[in-house]
Amino acid sequence: MTHFSDRVERISISGIREVFEAAGADAINLGLGQPDFPTPDHAKRAAVDAIEAGDTDAYTGNKGVPELREAIAARHEADLGVSVAPDDVIATAGGSEALHLAMEAHVDAGEEVLIPDPGFVAYDALAKLAGGEPVPVPLREDLTIDPAAVEDAITDDTAAFVVNSPGNPTGTVSSEADVREFARIAREHDVLCVSDEVYAPFVFDGEHRSPLEFERDNVVVVDACSKRYSMTGWRLGWVTGASERVERMLRVHQYVQACASAPAQFAAEAALSGPQGVVDEMREAYERRRDLVVSGLADAGLECPTPQGAFYAMPRVPEGFVDECIERGVIVVPGEAFGEHGAGHARISYAAGEDDLRDALDLIAEAAEAVR
Ligand SMILES: Cc1ncc(COP(=O)(O)O)c(C=O)c1O
Repeated sequence: MTHFSDRVERISISGIREVFEAAGADAINLGLGQPDFPTPDHAKRAAVDAIEAGDTDAYTGNKGVPELREAIAARHEADLGVSVAPDDVIATAGGSEALHLAMEAHVDAGEEVLIPDPGFVAYDALAKLAGGEPVPVPLREDLTIDPAAVEDAITDDTAAFVVNSPGNPTGTVSSEADVREFARIAREHDVLCVSDEVYAPFVFDGEHRSPLEFERDNVVVVDACSKRYSMTGWRLGWVTGASERVERMLRVHQYVQACASAPAQFAAEAALSGPQGVVDEMREAYERRRDLVVSGLADAGLECPTPQGAFYAMPRVPEGFVDECIERGVIVVPGEAFGEHGAGHARISYAAGEDDLRDALDLIAEAAEAVR
């Protein structure tokens, strides 16, 4: 009889896809975490040039080409004022692989990984694949991660806790005070804080802060070009942290990936060290759409904490709302796809054009009316 590992039997294909399949071909898709901007030309050009010069024919070093790791370190310095040694950076196949490395290198069988609930779908699955036990930590009423709830959930078996700001699926941003608390908790309890910062450039009110600013030994940062430069298809992310941790993560990376795709590394280097105006333009567009969505949801009578970052809103919704939206041709994702505490909410992605958003908000208002 065919045998599958217990680990793989504990995870399943993400529920988000099922929602897409239920909707018609011309539905307005507000279900995707896919920016609707092109990859910057200078990033594409750098990949093409590297290919034509033959620079992409061979494996790169396992951690990635030095120019890329220097550009990543410089970006951390510029954005967070944190100095990171290029040697403490591993270029990965997207933020997804970076999260995988963090779990594999730090979580033992049966150890607990505290994850925000609702939270990004990969945290639960990757903790399980590492043999760990994901422990959902409910968010505050305003959908921010509550450091007190994280600290309360820590036991002798806790290997790590995951934080994510700006957050998927919530669009909420952790305050500086909360980020300082995450750092303190990691230090005082001697547990790893995995800080997923893939939406860092998209903060509208206030600014992005990282626990890495306040704690170096027990924080690893996961980041990527995916959302930042609209490069999801390039599969290029990175992980950084203390040298010992990076060395352990490199052991995993070396065997599962060898190195990140070379063309993508050259494109990423150009994106990170080139002009950042493209990122500002995306942030401004997301902020305009955020305002549109917040006022549209309020008009529809749906209560929603104002998202301060990323490109998601997560209103409270009545029972049957998601099905009514899909029937009317708008795809939104049911909150329970992101954890049990997501129930009663829906995630709306506004990585879609403003005309589509306006049409979708009219249909959302009809759907809300129908189930009220
Ligand atoms: C919070 C969060 N972390 C990580 C990822 C993975 O990003 P990547 O496409 O770089 O693997 C995503 C993708 O949606 C995400 O939303």
